[in-house]
Amino acid sequence: MAGPITQLPISQLPVSQLPISQLEHEQVVIRTGRRSGLPVIVAVHSTALGPAAGGCRIWRYAAWQDGLADALRLSSAMTAKFAAAGLACGGGKTVVALPEGFELTAERRREALLDVADVVESLGGLYATGPDVGTSPQDMAVIGERTEYVFCKPAELGGSADSSPATADGAVAALRAVGAVLRGTTTLAGLRVAVVGLGNVGGRVATTLAAQGAELVLSDIDPERRALAGELGAVWAEPGSALTAEVDVVVPAALGGVLTEELVPRLRCRAVAGPANNQLAGPEVADLLAARGIVWVPDYIVSAGGVIHAIAVELDKQSEDEALERVLGIEGTVADLLAAARTQGGTPVAAAEELVRARLGAARSRGVVGEPRRHDRRAAVAQP
Ligand SMILES: NC(=O)c1ccc[n+]([C@@H]2O[C@H](COP(=O)([O-])OP(=O)(O)OC[C@H]3O[C@@H](n4cnc5c(N)ncnc54)[C@H](O)[C@@H]3O)[C@@H](O)[C@H]2O)c1
Repeated sequence: MAGPITQLPISQLPVSQLPISQLEHEQVVIRTGRRSGLPVIVAVHSTALGPAAGGCRIWRYAAWQDGLADALRLSSAMTAKFAAAGLACGGGKTVVALPEGFELTAERRREALLDVADVVESLGGLYATGPDVGTSPQDMAVIGERTEYVFCKPAELGGSADSSPATADGAVAALRAVGAVLRGTTTLAGLRVAVVGLGNVGGRVATTLAAQGAELVLSDIDPERRALAGELGAVWAEPGSALTAEVDVVVPAALGGVLTEELVPRLRCRAVAGPANNQLAGPEVADLLAARGIVWVPDYIVSAGGVIHAIAVELDKQSEDEALERVLGIEGTVADLLAAARTQGGTPVAAAEELVRARLGAARSRGVVGEPRRHDRRAAVAQP
């Protein structure tokens, strides 16, 4: 890999210089949408554990290569998320890369979604998509007009709808396990928690924690979210100071990249565990957190509730109660990782990576890898 050139933003790199030492993905499709003219990128990282799944991100990028880099990274993270959650799915992701200044009108949005549907359908069940940043269950209904390989359509169309309540429930389950390590009890009463980001997931996490007697510091860049802090009797703080609040646990529930080299020395919490994807600005930040004795639970473990729920309801045909029970199993997963980290003298990150490696390795040794695995959605999902 060339030296100084990798210091450039990805958008300024020639494709040959993208920071990917070797392509570890099974398949990557890059297509100019025939309706929208937008770059539609579908990355299938692995089908070792089962057919791939992962959300559809519609986001603005300086160049389409940035969208490609995002799709490669996010699909690999999905493989880890499914493996750690014990689900028989592989990692995939869709990115629609909006150029700067592109106005996504309702009509163009629909065109982009139908273009996504064409690519997903062309993979014949190797990969199924779902909502992610910039897309909703309603958008999945549009994709569902052209392909059955789509999760989280609205309930009236046979889907499992919005995944954020399950993601929030899973994050709260993770916090019980973290609280147990910090205080010797899984009870949330009296646990001091700062929740940063009060959207669909963070708002519900905060509400559940407040109902169970946690002491809350709440924060969001949207000042309108301050009303929730009032309702819940929580302290309101600006995002910067909430991250460095003196609490037991900081819960990142906004965007990624929040844990930086600069932030770690200023943290005054004992643990960080939240649903925001890709919290680390770089992998080295996990070591800095460990060196300060701050427990960090990887985001792909804490945020798995949404996918666990969708798979349970749509593929495994389980009831809402059964799905919830599986989501709440995140408490046990986190407890096991924290215990493994303690007994092996490592970090929860290393324990999580070991778990993922072991599950992928077991699939390979059973000889189930070879022919790519495909979804049988026509059989699995109720038709509208
Ligand atoms: N929704 C899900 O099921 C799900 C599943 C897995 C992971 N996640 C991740 O969880 C996070 C939250 O998802 P969501 O669905 O609640 O999103 P959302 O868009 O509903 O909420 C995000 C909230 O964060 C706030 N915010 C943005 N930047 C901020 C900043 N710098 N400081 C403080 N607040 C800020 C926004 O104003 C908004 O209220 C995201 O990282 C998402 O990728 C969500």
